[in-house]
Amino acid sequence: MADTRPILFFDSGVGGLSVLAPARALLPQAPLVYAADSAGFPYGIRSEEEIAARVPALLGRLAERYRPRLIVIACNTASTIALAHVRAALDIPIVGTVPAIKPAALLSKARVIGVLGTEATVRQPYVDNLAAQFAADCMVIRHGSAELVQLAEAKLHGEMPDPARFRAVLEGLFDQPGGERIDVIVNACTHFPLVEAELAAVAAHPVTFVDGGPGIARRIAYLTEGQEWPDVRPPGIAVFTRLDDAAHALAPALAGYGLARLEAL
Ligand code: DGL
Repeated sequence: MADTRPILFFDSGVGGLSVLAPARALLPQAPLVYAADSAGFPYGIRSEEEIAARVPALLGRLAERYRPRLIVIACNTASTIALAHVRAALDIPIVGTVPAIKPAALLSKARVIGVLGTEATVRQPYVDNLAAQFAADCMVIRHGSAELVQLAEAKLHGEMPDPARFRAVLEGLFDQPGGERIDVIVNACTHFPLVEAELAAVAAHPVTFVDGGPGIARRIAYLTEGQEWPDVRPPGIAVFTRLDDAAHALAPALAGYGLARLEAL
């Protein structure tokens, strides 16, 4: 009998769609559930304690309801704070999303990397460790932006934010000492690849953007190798911790990612 257990993606909002998209392309038969903690959004301005308590509890409820074969924490903020707690609490393979500093260091010729994340992510020791391990010979410049998270949500709601707002976010990196030499920017929040084109269009000088999405898709394929899938992928489910008008307004954007059904947790 076909194994219908889904892969479950989790984020505070729509950001995890940037992680779901490459996985969906690589695994065309995989059933997908996308969970957004809209009641807890945004995570980037919350404390470590709140995230560490909230994320494992929610994932426990989601795992009970959807019985996923694998969970992807498609959120840098949740992963850099709560990945170990979630792994300790659940007996399911968990893939986290952490800043793609390693691929950025491989790409940077200037040896100056920008890390653009939420305020909570850029202050994490997890990021210090990634920088020390994979980019020891690089200058790593960080900037946390809650504004860019809101801009990505607005885009998915069909709005066209003013380009000056994207330029101001990039100035948070470029205006720091050494910032003018940044040649690679890590999109260290899953919301940010959704507005990468808008960022690239206003960058003061050319930069390459990297994120964890493609690597996570390969990791999921590796971890599920040899498993059965349904012959035809069933319609995907988007589940919200608060299914309000704003969530319903995302239905057309979610449909573009194969998420045809909206549910409340
Ligand atoms: N998408 C999330 C991340 O990757 C966080 C956005 C937020 O809720 O602040 O960090």
